[in-house]
Amino acid sequence: MLREGAKELNYEIRGIVKKAEKVEALGQKIYWENIGDPIEKNCQLPEWIKDIIAGLVKENYTYGYCHSKGVLKTRKFLAARNNALNGAQITPEDILFFNGLGDAIGKVYQYLVPTARIIGPSPAYSTHSSAEAAHANTYPITYNLDPDNFWYPDIDDLYLKVKYNPNIVGILIINPDNPTGMVYPLESLKRIVEIAREFKLFIVADEIYINVTYNGAVAHPLAEIIEDVPGISLKGISKELPWPGSRCGWMEFYNRHADPEFDRLCSALENAKMIEVCSTKLPQLAIPQILGDPRYKPYREESNRRIGHRSKIITEILKPVPHIKFNETHGAFYNTIIFEEGALNNRQKLEIRNAAIRELVEEWVSDENCPFDKRFVYYMLGAKGVCVVPISSFCSKLKGFRVTLLEENEDMLVETFTRIRDALIEYFESTPGTAQPEKARFSGQLAN
Ligand SMILES: Cc1ncc(COP(=O)(O)O)c(C=O)c1O
Repeated sequence: MLREGAKELNYEIRGIVKKAEKVEALGQKIYWENIGDPIEKNCQLPEWIKDIIAGLVKENYTYGYCHSKGVLKTRKFLAARNNALNGAQITPEDILFFNGLGDAIGKVYQYLVPTARIIGPSPAYSTHSSAEAAHANTYPITYNLDPDNFWYPDIDDLYLKVKYNPNIVGILIINPDNPTGMVYPLESLKRIVEIAREFKLFIVADEIYINVTYNGAVAHPLAEIIEDVPGISLKGISKELPWPGSRCGWMEFYNRHADPEFDRLCSALENAKMIEVCSTKLPQLAIPQILGDPRYKPYREESNRRIGHRSKIITEILKPVPHIKFNETHGAFYNTIIFEEGALNNRQKLEIRNAAIRELVEEWVSDENCPFDKRFVYYMLGAKGVCVVPISSFCSKLKGFRVTLLEENEDMLVETFTRIRDALIEYFESTPGTAQPEKARFSGQLAN
């Protein structure tokens, strides 16, 4: 009954929650490090932002539908902001609103023929890789982000994959990146634009974290560097405002008329939204008022400074741990920690004092298909209560796990990452070396 692609829908960021809830029910306190929701991690929205939203709630017009592309005044505001970058110029007609950026991501791949592929980064943010794979009815195609080179994209890998796969019609970048926290260097972005131009591809740039950079880093928006190449920038307010519950994100189409096929894709996306009528209106009404307020820039700068401070704390705690690859982050609010090759084996354990939890974890890891990073993640969940996401679930052949940099309560942050550090050290010491290396097995996610 189902299409082949349905089995590609995988979202371990929420999947791990089911496991953690079972451990919690047996009495273990859980330190939730699985999801990028600032509000869950004690972030308080300033009163002036809440006042703007409260004012809109009192207005009767807030309760009606809006234009199917989105509120015109908001699209005008966003087009002007984009055009001030002096890169690709757009009009309000080049902006299309969605119910959260997740909704936009689902749609961007859906209307391409299954053989038309978009190559994306690995590790991959699974909303992109799953949606792209589901549309293609097969595994995602990825280029590598390199943990031995600050997680920067391996441009030669990208070039060769594009060159030898004529089905690739687009390149995805997530800048700054989820799950690595890497900010694409300007030079890499320019080379990606050159590759797109050479092979007549379009670029999709997920820029939901474009204004979330810190400790001296700058993220270059697609509009600034794309020149004449067609592209779609994906933006939203879930992370930078942050208002993830608003379910509000949008697409910006660049150089839409440079390629008739690309223009048809943009029209299909607009028509699809028309069938739905429109996207959530309240957050759209709030965008120009909040983002255009003189208090917004200093607010964002202070939020970034705090994330940058947490990035330093995490670096101090985890960087000295042996057998891992640790890169300090400069954008978004995640870090991916990788195990060195040979650091994991199938006999490592952590002591779990609660017998019921121990039994549960041992049952989960007894599955012979359980990747070694998942095994560590389950043991850490049972023994230390810290819930992270294994990186093998992010379309990667690397082994590791993702954490967030979101905890606003500094004592809690230090406690959580000290638990992670202790878990790593105790796990490695439980059976050092490679007792039995992980079985090489075919996994679709490794197919490229
Ligand atoms: C890179 C990236 N894109 C899109 C989204 C989805 O955002 P939204 O809450 O607007 O659906 C997320 C959420 O974590 C994300 O990390």
